[in-house]
Amino acid sequence: MRKLTKWLPFAVILATAAGSSLYLFFGGGNGYYRPQTKDPAVIYRQACMECHGRSGEGKGVLYPAFDKYMDEEDVQREIREGNWRMPAFRYIRGDTLAILARYVADHGYLKHKK
Ligand code: HEC
Repeated sequence: MRKLTKWLPFAVILATAAGSSLYLFFGGGNGYYRPQTKDPAVIYRQACMECHGRSGEGKGVLYPAFDKYMDEEDVQREIREGNWRMPAFRYIRGDTLAILARYVADHGYLKHKK
């Protein structure tokens, strides 16, 4: 028993570190986000900017810049289905989804990757 208690603080530190790095890696983003508007600029700011940056340039090593080879269809699929660390946005659909995907494609959000 003495051995166990001796290691307890280390176990706690380890668990905390593992937990917070998991959060940083997978955390953030909310697939339950419900757009209150059809304005794609507003939706992008509210739902996407957190991970993809102001104009799709990405955030450090965790969040890559958008791939310039993606077209509107690809962007739509990505939003609808997610992509392992990216949540699927089930409430962005129909018109709103189409407009947002076009906005992301048209504004050169996909042109950052060389
Ligand atoms: C929680 C962070 C997060 C949020 C919020 C998020 N994404 Fe993503 N997205 C990612 C990650 C991470 C990837 C890369 C795939 C991976 O590693 O899981 C990605 C990939 C993509 C891709 C494919 C890019 C490529 O080049 O392959 C598109 C397009 C995209 N996201 C669009 C969006 C849009 C539009 C929104 C807002 C509705 C959004 N994302 C919200 C994290 C996020």
